[in-house]
Amino acid sequence: MITIIFKYNNEEFKVNATEGETLLECALKNNVPLIGGCGGSGICGSCNVEIDPEYINKIPEPDVNEQDVIEYLPMYKPTTRLACQIKITNDMDGMIVNINN
Ligand code: FES
Repeated sequence: MITIIFKYNNEEFKVNATEGETLLECALKNNVPLIGGCGGSGICGSCNVEIDPEYINKIPEPDVNEQDVIEYLPMYKPTTRLACQIKITNDMDGMIVNINN
């Protein structure tokens, strides 16, 4: 079983995830308040999150399109990613994902 811990303001959402689904899909099906404005197309930036620094190296680097979107976000950091572009793997068990929106 893969557990992902989403954090939003002072709330924590500990949810079960399935390998292969995106972080956005996982959040939405578990009623986590993450916004997917473009439906997961990777163009709107609304699903941006901060990935637990301990896990950032377990996620493939952003592709050019994702990088273009995230680096223009006001809260951009090296751990900023688009939840709709990250496919969940077993390596992500226990990962904390902070929601920016
Ligand atoms: S839902 Fe629009 S960039 Fe992820």
